[in-house]
Amino acid sequence: MLRILVLGAGAGGGFPQWNCGCAQCRRARAGDPAAPVRTQSSIAVSADGLRWTLINASPDLGRQLLDRPTLHPVSDTRHSPISAVVVTNADVDHVAGLLTLREGHPFPLYATTRVHGILGANAIFNVLNRDIVDRRPLAVDTPEPLTDANGEGLGFTVELFPVPGKIALWLEDPTKPGFGSVPEDTVGVKVTEVLPGGEEGAHFYYIPGCAALPPDLAARLDGAALVLFDGTTYTDDEMAAHKVGTKTAGRMGHMAMSGPEGSLAAFAKLDVGRKVYIHINNTNPVLVADTAERRAVEEAGWDVAFDGMEIAL
Ligand code: MLT
Ligand code: MN
Ligand code: ZN
Repeated sequence: MLRILVLGAGAGGGFPQWNCGCAQCRRARAGDPAAPVRTQSSIAVSADGLRWTLINASPDLGRQLLDRPTLHPVSDTRHSPISAVVVTNADVDHVAGLLTLREGHPFPLYATTRVHGILGANAIFNVLNRDIVDRRPLAVDTPEPLTDANGEGLGFTVELFPVPGKIALWLEDPTKPGFGSVPEDTVGVKVTEVLPGGEEGAHFYYIPGCAALPPDLAARLDGAALVLFDGTTYTDDEMAAHKVGTKTAGRMGHMAMSGPEGSLAAFAKLDVGRKVYIHINNTNPVLVADTAERRAVEEAGWDVAFDGMEIAL
């Protein structure tokens, strides 16, 4: 069985965002049960219920680990159930939490060569001692059985595949087409259980950033039991409409939920067992339980992820 634990269902900035006084951030800050706090983007996955792999390491990781007893140390000395980390891109909300893991805990760090290159060029990530934090490259479109720091199998494979998107905000080069993005800059993840006999078990997809659903990607996801998908905004121009920014979702490398080009319409044509929105921006009304937009996505068969959500597959 694959267990999935949502550590952070929010997008970059989280919900509430520290510098946002909008109505729904105020509700979250006030502890309104209809508007629960969502920390920044990360999930944990385990096949044995003991050793957990982080997929993305958010700036809120310290709080997330405190909040989730499953991820607390189980020995009297130094220990952590965190047995590996995979990052899907170099966005701040997906890599800043690596700095929280610097206290001498051995784990392999899996990412594309592109992302390893970006992290390697940033001396601050040298706090992750290479003697115990093994940088392991993942080739796209190639399922890789993950192992822990001792080389013991973690009970699942991970396959990264490029999806429409863009380079991390902090690496954008305005002089280059697509801001200098390459296909490996944004990837989705397929996690597939490996049963004790070696045969494939359950699988799911985790795609926290995705700018469009072209036919090949739609075909890949069609028939899946579970997809956790980019729920950054409800409308493409939401940041401007809330007067908290100017960028569209598309400009940020995300597809909106609504509209003819949105994820609601795109997934309506697919057969997906369970659809869960994740990486949800603080401007998105689906974060709040009593909104029309939340009703609309639920009526379309979607769940809206929350911190601490558990899914077993
Ligand atoms: C995004 O998902 O677009 C990024 O995480 C934005 C950011 O870096 O804050
Ligand atoms: Mn993000
Ligand atoms: Zn807000």
